[in-house]
Amino acid sequence: MELALYCPIHGYYEKQKDNVGRGGDFITSVSTGKLFGELLAYQFADWLEEEAGSQQPAVRIVEAGAHDGKLAADILGWLRAERPKLFDRLDYCLIEPSASRQEWQRKTLKTFSPRVRWFANLATMVVPEAVKSKPDPLRGIIFANELLDAFPVHRFGWDAPTRTWFEWGVAVDGDQFKWAKIQPAAGRSEGPAAEPGAASFQLPAALLEVLPDGYTVETSPAAERWWQEAAGVLERGKLMTIDYGFSDDEQISPARTHGTLRAYHRQRSSSDLLANPGEQDLTAHVNFSAMRKAGEAAGLKTDGFSTQAKFLTQILEKCTRDENFGGWPPARTRQFQTLTHPDHLGRAFRVLIQSR
Ligand SMILES: C[S@@+](CC[C@H](N)C(=O)[O-])C[C@H]1O[C@@H](n2cnc3c(N)ncnc32)[C@H](O)[C@@H]1O
Repeated sequence: MELALYCPIHGYYEKQKDNVGRGGDFITSVSTGKLFGELLAYQFADWLEEEAGSQQPAVRIVEAGAHDGKLAADILGWLRAERPKLFDRLDYCLIEPSASRQEWQRKTLKTFSPRVRWFANLATMVVPEAVKSKPDPLRGIIFANELLDAFPVHRFGWDAPTRTWFEWGVAVDGDQFKWAKIQPAAGRSEGPAAEPGAASFQLPAALLEVLPDGYTVETSPAAERWWQEAAGVLERGKLMTIDYGFSDDEQISPARTHGTLRAYHRQRSSSDLLANPGEQDLTAHVNFSAMRKAGEAAGLKTDGFSTQAKFLTQILEKCTRDENFGGWPPARTRQFQTLTHPDHLGRAFRVLIQSR
């Protein structure tokens, strides 16, 4: 999955720039228009202004996985127009491991250039190359939109007769890929190393009694590691993610017998995950309970976990009392409906906010 998405030559995210939006493979909150970024900018300004008393010369927003940079442009554009004093102190950092994506993002964001910096990962941001011994503590906001659902996952199936989990692997059959069960290593009776009994996935014994044969789940240790690392580098401020996913108590559902891993190609969702590697997006639901635990283990407090609809509506309520938010043309109403309607992006997308 990692190669299919991120291989420097053939990876889906490396070679196709315009795969998001109405003409692309799927729509996102960002592709509906500027309002999503503007509402986030309003909320970020509020959070950063709460910090204003701390006498910090610069305020920092860190966005991870910024894709083509459009969300950053919407956020920065609104802050420059509506919060110019905050904008002048802003240090907007993008975490982007892909050199070609960084290049595309630089083009999109060139008018904001003195305010924007790029890093390949969180570690190089907090410990600059030149001064390895002096970490640069991160105070401010770290956030990502639809990053955690784009991390590779492990996929497990339930073998009801033996009441064990097995892991699905990918094998080569001629010039095709096919699913293959990974056999537990010889001498080990407890199954594959990343078996979903570990921290990220726990099911009550009573549920296992009735779980149908072949029931599929995914775990993403890579996403959990990323979240824990982000929590670890945050000295003070907020850590936020917006993704589709669920909490532990929603994880087992008859609607997800085959798991949540999906392929997207030209506005269509497909369960043929192994077809056209590098040509289709692959994404799985985020287990927010696992993220929450990872953040709390790193000392963060959980401020909120809600649907995107609730989160954006709360921001909108504040904006409408504030004459500085800007006008409200009909396009904004349409965008808000798409972002918050339960049948569009409002219910499936969730927002987790933690803080230190
Ligand atoms: C699904 S896109 C994110 C969508 C985007 N945030 C938006 O709002 O439209 C995934 C992005 O995450 C980047 N990415 C992948 N692994 C990453 C990592 N470990 N840290 C930061 N970004 C990563 C990819 O290069 C790509 O830019």
